Amino acid sequence: MKADDEIRRVAMLGAGLMGSLIALVYARAGCEVAIYDIDEGALEQAMARAKQALDQLREGGLDAPEDSGALARIAGKQSLEEAVAGAQIVVEAVVEDVATKVDLYKKVEALCAPAVLITSNTSGLQPSVLSRRMAHPERFMVTHFWSPPHLIPLVEVVPGPKTSRTALDIVFALLKRAGHRPVLVRREVAGFIGNRLQYALLREALALVQSGVATVEEVDDVVTSSFGRRLATVGPIMTADLGGLHTFAAISRQLFPDLTSGTRPLQLLTERVEQNQLGPSTGQGFYPWPPQRLSAAIAERDGVLLDFLRRERHKR
Ligand SMILES: NC(=O)c1ccc[n+]([C@@H]2O[C@H](COP(=O)([O-])OP(=O)(O)OC[C@H]3O[C@@H](n4cnc5c(N)ncnc54)[C@H](O)[C@@H]3O)[C@@H](O)[C@H]2O)c1
Repeated sequence: MKADDEIRRVAMLGAGLMGSLIALVYARAGCEVAIYDIDEGALEQAMARAKQALDQLREGGLDAPEDSGALARIAGKQSLEEAVAGAQIVVEAVVEDVATKVDLYKKVEALCAPAVLITSNTSGLQPSVLSRRMAHPERFMVTHFWSPPHLIPLVEVVPGPKTSRTALDIVFALLKRAGHRPVLVRREVAGFIGNRLQYALLREALALVQSGVATVEEVDDVVTSSFGRRLATVGPIMTADLGGLHTFAAISRQLFPDLTSGTRPLQLLTERVEQNQLGPSTGQGFYPWPPQRLSAAIAERDGVLLDFLRRERHKR
């Protein structure tokens, strides 16, 4: 593809939580999206999820003229061959497993011309690892959407050492057309930017509970009632500027030696996993998850995310 070519045809591989909604993001941008999953049942669920998300945007006053045809632009396909036929870009959102992804790209490369781009929604695997068996790694990069992708604008774009400038330009243009905010990760690194920050916070949060400083509820309350609110508008580095860098330097000197720096998941977390307390999927994680609590938590979260999108739309 050339740098000024516009993407109109997308193949979406993986119709789970992320794939179904990323398909909607591209369909709302006017693309024809062919979606494929090894689990046929997933396709039906994906269409239902995409419809629900579109309804949510409309009810939240965030629909756009192109939305009326968006669902009709998503077509479920029964085979990988059918899904990638005619695609200009193949977007992968299958399970987070290196071997599965590497094997899938090999199959895709056998079916697609070298000009067809391939992106992965991996949460943190590095592009050089994922593209290690590709014949044309210059066409590959990570585009990491955040959940739920129809409500969160950020996409981390992570090129590998061999990704071409043209491929990057085309993908940036596509994401912007879809109303998303691509941020370039300048050097590939495990976890990219967002998940490194998120997991640094989680490690310390669990360490505080494990060492008896606070309960799970208290740690979550401290974040959501304080700097969690601020972070949505002022990032951590601007926060340091606003607080005064001399103060932040002094606190860093006192605090860093005391922060947890373990390299293994905390026992508090692994114990829950061993007991099959995985969160809403098993009805219990750190919190109990009866269905009403889950729907209330998601409604609350999505309500705030919709507010952000409305504010941004008014500013434009
Ligand atoms: N869930 C999140 O919050 C989140 C956020 C950002 C990124 N991600 C990443 O996105 C990707 C997908 O995550 P998810 O949460 O949608 O997972 P999911 O389990 O909901 O969906 C994955 C889907 O991939 C399908 N699949 C597996 N192997 C396949 C193959 N070879 N070909 C076609 N389909 C195949 C499965 O049947 C399943 O429907 C992962 O790489 C994950 O790390 C997830």
